[in-house]
Amino acid sequence: MKLSVIILAAGDGKRMYSDIPKTLHELAGKPLIQHVVDTVQQLKPNNIYVVYGKRGGKQMVEQLNELPVTWVHQPQPLGTGHAVQQVLSLLKPDHRVLVLCGDVPLISAETLATLIKTTSESSIGWLTAYVDDPAGLGRILRDDEGNLQAIVEERDANATQKAINEINTGICLLPVKYLNELLPKVDNKNTQQEYYLTDIFAKALANNIQIVATQPTSVEEILGVNDKSQLAQLERIWQLNNAKKYMQDGLTLRDPTRFDVRGTLQFGRDVICDVNVMIEGDVVIGDNSYIGPNVYLRNVTMANDVKISANTVIDTAVIAEGCLIGPFARIRPATILQKKVKIGNFVEIKKSEIGEKSKVNHLSYIGDTFIGKNVNIGAGTITCNYDGVNKHKTTIEDDVFIGSSTQLIAPLTVGKNATIGAGSTITENVPSDDLTLTRTKQITVEGWRKPQRETEKE
Ligand code: UD1
Ligand code: CA
Repeated sequence: MKLSVIILAAGDGKRMYSDIPKTLHELAGKPLIQHVVDTVQQLKPNNIYVVYGKRGGKQMVEQLNELPVTWVHQPQPLGTGHAVQQVLSLLKPDHRVLVLCGDVPLISAETLATLIKTTSESSIGWLTAYVDDPAGLGRILRDDEGNLQAIVEERDANATQKAINEINTGICLLPVKYLNELLPKVDNKNTQQEYYLTDIFAKALANNIQIVATQPTSVEEILGVNDKSQLAQLERIWQLNNAKKYMQDGLTLRDPTRFDVRGTLQFGRDVICDVNVMIEGDVVIGDNSYIGPNVYLRNVTMANDVKISANTVIDTAVIAEGCLIGPFARIRPATILQKKVKIGNFVEIKKSEIGEKSKVNHLSYIGDTFIGKNVNIGAGTITCNYDGVNKHKTTIEDDVFIGSSTQLIAPLTVGKNATIGAGSTITENVPSDDLTLTRTKQITVEGWRKPQRETEKE
């Protein structure tokens, strides 16, 4: 039977106290709702409908307009049943519908596949879970023989019902024809005056439609985000599960609870990540590499044998084999480091290419620059690339030695094998091979006295 998916994301998200719609809040750097969409795509459904609401809904559709989904508007958040109702007219009568919540992001494709497999095409499948703390969730009511009866929301539950620890995950699977039959019968006579999707549960049983309750592979999967504390809790679960997966594949993590990925990571053999490493965007780490403590890597591709020392930030760069970077280095977008380059502490590199075996070891700014091979940039050297309006390029050819605290006022070229004396302010092209420097002569004023305060004067 063909499958349609409905993801509910039109709720007010009141408990988030935020202007951003709840399902746009991020988990591992990706909106909650996108986790759900990515997961259900693995089931290859025929359609995915996302119900969005008046609160921040427009923002959600704009931000996620690349997702392969049909957006359906729910003008007022009148309840989960009312939300599904908005999609009814779009659903094909020969499909089954899988209903999910946009605020339950850890649900796995495996659990959903099991739900689909264990539910016959003429019955309803309901994902329930046994939890230690059912607070806030709908409870599953069963009779003395364990037969399913109904779902009662916490706010409508009595004390005995509140003690039940089998809960509604909010995820269910049913033929479209049952939805058409049951949903119009749902009313809003409850404490929240909402149309509850969960009310179709008892109505189905009353119509002799079989409901099959299935449980998730792991109870963590069905946790929902209703407030910031749950958002943080789910982030930690996601990160730890992800870290465990990487460790299974051979990554060494000094502390998996202090390792965050907000994007994708590919790594080779014998890669070590020390504590508090943060990965964003798409990062590739080659074999035999070490990432030190407190390192932030975003959209970086690194070849083998690279060592990044503590407190280094690298954003959008390509790093070749054998480079040594940091501690306390900052590499900014559009940077290319060729083999065995060394970048030391308090060095900032922006939009520059640095050739094989060249070194920028201390306290420098290198921007809009091309550096050849075997170049040594002395401590405190700065490329003055900005005239207040435009950026200009600096070219430093192979085998150049630049003395400490040199300012290179771009645009200019330093010729191959040139040497620049320390403390120079270079404003024009520098010829190859020779020594160039711009120093005034050192003088000593004999008999000079330090200025005195008025009161000290006689
Ligand atoms: C819901 C279930 C509860 C279940 C819990 C699991 C109902 C009535 N309750 O409660 O049994 O234990 O999920 O997490 O179904 N939404 C809309 N439109 C609305 C209202 C909600 O699209 O008018 C969306 C929300 O954006 C959210 C989802 O539906 O993604 C669930 O709504 P929420 O208000 O969080 O329901 P819960 O109180 O968590
Ligand atoms: Ca919820």
